[in-house]
Amino acid sequence: MLKHQHSSIVALFIQITTTLLVCLFVISQSIITMSLFEWSISQGLLAGLISYFLRMPIWWTLIQLMFVPLCITTLALEISSLWFLSLFLCLLLIYGKTYKTQVPLYLSSKNVNAALETLLPRQDQFSFVDLGSGCGGLLNNLAKVHKNGSFYGIESAPLPLLISKLRSLPNQDSCKIFWGSFWEYDLSQYDVVYAYLSPVPMESLWHKARKEMRPGSLLISNTFLIPGITPYKSIELNDFSNSTLYLWKI
Ligand SMILES: C[S@@+](CC[C@H](N)C(=O)[O-])C[C@H]1O[C@@H](n2cnc3c(N)ncnc32)[C@H](O)[C@@H]1O
Repeated sequence: MLKHQHSSIVALFIQITTTLLVCLFVISQSIITMSLFEWSISQGLLAGLISYFLRMPIWWTLIQLMFVPLCITTLALEISSLWFLSLFLCLLLIYGKTYKTQVPLYLSSKNVNAALETLLPRQDQFSFVDLGSGCGGLLNNLAKVHKNGSFYGIESAPLPLLISKLRSLPNQDSCKIFWGSFWEYDLSQYDVVYAYLSPVPMESLWHKARKEMRPGSLLISNTFLIPGITPYKSIELNDFSNSTLYLWKI
């Protein structure tokens, strides 16, 4: 049953269970004397082992292993709680909606920027939209090179939106960023739609693109394929995450 749950729920369950088990063990015996840090290591090892045997992805196993020991170490450093509050708020403003969208923030590489530069028209006017435009780096880089294009971004996370709006100030004639969910925006006005999302929304994105995008316009996805729909072109990029750009003509 646990296997069908969201990874974060499973992780929380393992953390609570292992912490309770370690606490019970500490209370029930008086022979072994260990420091709080050593107990936290025991909890981390137990949580890591359970995650490993439940075949959780490797990054989850590492998080499970280190979470409580790192909390105890950080508490021992007596850092002002304001720092944690600020960090928590920043993370909330970047990743707060990820639970719903299933698309976290990670940025397109320089190789992706370069490949898109060559794909976009050199002379003709065109419009380009980045669905989930993050901190606006890709849009601004493209806007600097392609003066013949109009660039748009739609971003739902408040902090990346603010950064991208500030970043776009020097290019504000050709680069505009909107706040909200791209599912609420009509795609019919764009010649090129770019998406760097996750596997989760790709099927729905295809339905939206088919319904709204103009014939002849181009849908480009970084890394994630649309299930069952063969792209007319794929461009493999030799970057740190081995990205591939997939192109579909509508
Ligand atoms: C993988 S990042 C890509 C960032 C940027 N496009 C790039 O290539 O560097 C995906 C972004 O999409 C945003 N996002 C996810 N779902 C969204 C939605 N429904 N509407 C608007 N933005 C969304 C996330 O907040 C995140 O910033």
